[in-house]
Amino acid sequence: MSKNILVLPGDGIGQEIVAEAVKVLACLRDDYGLDIDMDEALIGGVAYDAAGHPLPEATLNLAKEADAMLLGAVGGPKWEPLDISVRPEKGLLGLRKELGLFANLRPAILYPQLADASTLRPEVVSGLDIMIVRELTGGIYFGQPRGVRVLESGEKEGFNTLVYRESEVDRIVRVAMDIAMKRNKRVCSVDKANVLECTEMWREVAVKVGADYPEVELSHMYVDNAAMQLVRAPKQFDVMVTTNMFGDILSDCASMLTGSIGMLPSASLDEHGKGMYEPIHGSAPDIAGQGVANPLATILSVAMMLRYSLDEDNMAERVERAVNKTLDQGLRTPDIYSKGTQKVGTEAMGDAVVAALREG
Ligand code: IPM
Ligand code: MG
Repeated sequence: MSKNILVLPGDGIGQEIVAEAVKVLACLRDDYGLDIDMDEALIGGVAYDAAGHPLPEATLNLAKEADAMLLGAVGGPKWEPLDISVRPEKGLLGLRKELGLFANLRPAILYPQLADASTLRPEVVSGLDIMIVRELTGGIYFGQPRGVRVLESGEKEGFNTLVYRESEVDRIVRVAMDIAMKRNKRVCSVDKANVLECTEMWREVAVKVGADYPEVELSHMYVDNAAMQLVRAPKQFDVMVTTNMFGDILSDCASMLTGSIGMLPSASLDEHGKGMYEPIHGSAPDIAGQGVANPLATILSVAMMLRYSLDEDNMAERVERAVNKTLDQGLRTPDIYSKGTQKVGTEAMGDAVVAALREG
């Protein structure tokens, strides 16, 4: 039976980059017999404009039925004045929560062809291959109570709650451990156990789970140190596992080690491996509509989808090889451009990947 992919372009450059990733999926379907059908739905600001909500009922229903989802990005200045409850970001957060996509895998891999695009010295980043495992449906992003209240004095007070249950920590650390078993068998759990009770408990649970994986070397690091170590000596890390907000911040940081946030894909998985796949970057309103955004993070997200949700490792490798070949040819979108390479736009980059894919 064919697998159903829900395509959710969203806002800003989301439209442009997803169009290129869809070309890749279509090529796999038409040339290599990938048995899929694709639907498209609205999410984010465009959904708010069309349906009055960033995650319309119709989109949520299609998402629940899909085998996997491909998302572009959400948000933009146009929707910033809206109440936080209907901002585009709520669409994305709602989808993650409603579908139980608790495990967010964010690989940071340096393509050797891009060593010059990193702001760090090549010897610091060459060979870099980190997997950040970010908890995605809990923590301060979703904790209650939250809000802004007016005190008796008339002053406003804003508050959010960092909250984790043992079971939530347990399951995300297990995901990290399982991934580490297929890699270099090292997990660094990142917390702020010296200050925050919630993450002190996180560390305790991580230690308990670690006992079930005697082959994995488990270490712990405070988040401030982890941020520093990521730019100082990033190759010390294999798998990092952390809370929703720390993971949000550290994965942006890790992305720049690889030259551009435009290169990094992600997978958000539920308990059964159903997933949503998206680039880790945002909607980049500053360059939206100009045809210059890098589609590779989204195309590489398709590779993750093939691997984690569609059980098509061979096809995933095909896509990754095609991306590599395109980089070998010297094609670069502006974000990864360096002297001696050829600057191209979003469409030309996508077309080049598809051409490389066709060649096999
Ligand atoms: C990300 C983004 C989102 C997040 C935003 C758009 C809600 O920054 O996926 O990293 O904070 O999780
Ligand atoms: Mg982020």
